[in-house]
Amino acid sequence: MSKRIPLAGVIGNPVGHSKSPRMHAHWLASQDLPGHYIPMEVEAEDLADVLAALPRMGFAGTNVTIPHKEAALAGAVRATPRARAIGAANTLTFLPGGGYEADNTDGYGFFANLQQRAGDWRASDGPVAVFGAGGAARAILHAMLEAGAPEIRLMNRTRARAETLAAAFGPRVKVLDWGDTGPALDGAATVVNTTSLGMAGQPAFDLDLGGLRPGMIATDIVYIPLETPFLQAASRRGARIVDGLGMLLWQGVPGFNRWFGGDAQVTPELRELMLAP
Ligand code: ATR
Repeated sequence: MSKRIPLAGVIGNPVGHSKSPRMHAHWLASQDLPGHYIPMEVEAEDLADVLAALPRMGFAGTNVTIPHKEAALAGAVRATPRARAIGAANTLTFLPGGGYEADNTDGYGFFANLQQRAGDWRASDGPVAVFGAGGAARAILHAMLEAGAPEIRLMNRTRARAETLAAAFGPRVKVLDWGDTGPALDGAATVVNTTSLGMAGQPAFDLDLGGLRPGMIATDIVYIPLETPFLQAASRRGARIVDGLGMLLWQGVPGFNRWFGGDAQVTPELRELMLAP
């Protein structure tokens, strides 16, 4: 029997907008590896059947995105500690004995992006101010706390969601009111927007960022536009800024390496490719 060409993809709904296929195709081509990575639009009620069938078709693994991240974790025979802590999965690897292992690489992607683009940055540099308490914030809190952030100041429009995260992640997470940016930014080393505010087509990020100072690092998970109003405001106040595109790129690295046996690199060329229409 001939050796199968490894397959992988991304399951979401909708999924047509995903740029992950472009990224994996680039990595496959640039490393001269055999393989294909495809987008798959799947209804929630079909997810389990699809995940059972994919390995029989030669899939080594798959990414999952909205709205399947929690269900994908629930259906796993094995999960990494970070996927369990985050409560959602984005990277599934099929196991030889059946079923799949669930991982979550979103926090890793966030962290690796900051390390690449702000080389001397450390999570332990000082308090981290975080806007938003959704799924992305969960992944980022986990990565920041693992990497030694001394304190997380968490603000969310719906305060109860921030309280839930604080209860899950422990006493280093302090909840502040949405809009309480004075105390949140006072002495902070890192400031993160994890909300959808400022994304093309979404409302603007309009909280007072007067507390931003030179020496702080501001980063956004929104990358359309690349330089969001939040990052522009931070830049005007002398803070160093790191855009969110790299988080998308880096979160794909562990899956690519696992499924295709490659060594994926996040390069300026890949950034350009992903920014093209
Ligand atoms: P994700 O998984 O990308 O984090 P999410 O779970 O839907 O997506 O979370 C979106 C985040 O953006 C939440 O923190 C949300 O605040 P709420 O918990 O109050 O909904 C935040 N967000 C979205 N629209 C917002 C708005 N108009 N004003 C303030 N926060 C907003």
